[in-house]
Amino acid sequence: MKAAVYYSTGGPEVFRYEDVPDPKCHPRGVLIETQAVSIEGGDVLSRAGGELATTPHVVGYQSAGVIREVGAHVTDRHVGQRVVTVSPFGSHAALRSVPVRSTWLVPDGLAIDEAACVPIPFGTADDCLFEFGRLQRGETVLIQGGGGGVGLAAIQLAKRAGARVFATASSDAKLERLRPFGMDEGINYREADLVREIARLTEGVGCDVVVDPVGGDVLQQSLACLAYRGRAITVGNASRGGRLLDVSSLGGGNRSLTGVYLGAEIATDRAYDMIQRHIDDVATGELTAVIDRTFPLAAAADAHAYIESRQAVGRVVLVP
Ligand SMILES: NC(=O)c1ccc[n+]([C@@H]2O[C@H](COP(=O)([O-])OP(=O)(O)OC[C@H]3O[C@@H](n4cnc5c(N)ncnc54)[C@H](OP(=O)(O)O)[C@@H]3O)[C@@H](O)[C@H]2O)c1
Repeated sequence: MKAAVYYSTGGPEVFRYEDVPDPKCHPRGVLIETQAVSIEGGDVLSRAGGELATTPHVVGYQSAGVIREVGAHVTDRHVGQRVVTVSPFGSHAALRSVPVRSTWLVPDGLAIDEAACVPIPFGTADDCLFEFGRLQRGETVLIQGGGGGVGLAAIQLAKRAGARVFATASSDAKLERLRPFGMDEGINYREADLVREIARLTEGVGCDVVVDPVGGDVLQQSLACLAYRGRAITVGNASRGGRLLDVSSLGGGNRSLTGVYLGAEIATDRAYDMIQRHIDDVATGELTAVIDRTFPLAAAADAHAYIESRQAVGRVVLVP
């Protein structure tokens, strides 16, 4: 099969488009013909400096396509069904062998590229806001990295839950693209002082929940934006910044900082069903999987470089 592979981590130029052996279908798994790959924030970080589970390595968590083969012990999937899957690596390839449990059926009428973009961003955003952030109707929430995959999902889910939604991005143009998805107030952090701006917008109260997939210095600012009893969620390190934090502001206001990792929850029935609900809601149009651009799989290097240029709003998709 064709795959975008690399032999060592580094910049987008490490990708090679090569023939590699077809994966074998596991007895409790399915073999999927990839039709769309959603490039996740974690894929970019893995390519830049993650572990190589195999050499050459096929990076990537999330993809969707059609089942070509079903394992001998599988009873609830059949050849020809459309599924989206999440697995630790292997998305940047024409074929993918995964356990059945890591697949969700794609409803009729939902475009396969949109389906490819749902499980991780929406599953992560849901866990950040509700399972761990305990967001309530009428509360205020700040979504850092609002134009990213997790950010855009979080904006939509928070708005739907009746929260007042603030989001950050690196330009006014990006922020304008977030407004139709439920952002009430946007903060261009390159021009405004974020902490001061949140204090102004909340009349000095701060935010009840902050979702932070950016990390580094931004996470420090996230803590400074919290209201009394506010909950900050650290869910990523898109900035590749440092991890040292001053947590002295938490204690005085009964504030908290919680780490969220969807990978630790995704095998539970709760998370599996929650993700299926989001897929169904995208299929009905209640939620939107935002796709910014599509590249051929052979141009994976260009697609990763485009993401790193910080122009994308939502997902960049690869098509084999
Ligand atoms: N823990 C989990 O379960 C989990 C699940 C999913 C993702 N994640 C992590 O969450 C992070 C975001 O994932 P994603 O899929 O939303 O990524 P993404 O779509 O690439 O979005 C990342 C966003 O971060 C913002 N950003 C701010 N500073 C940045 C910097 N220095 N470099 C790059 N981007 C920067 C960018 O917006 P601006 O350019 O507008 O600032 C961009 O929109 C990643 O670290 C990912 O690994 C964790």
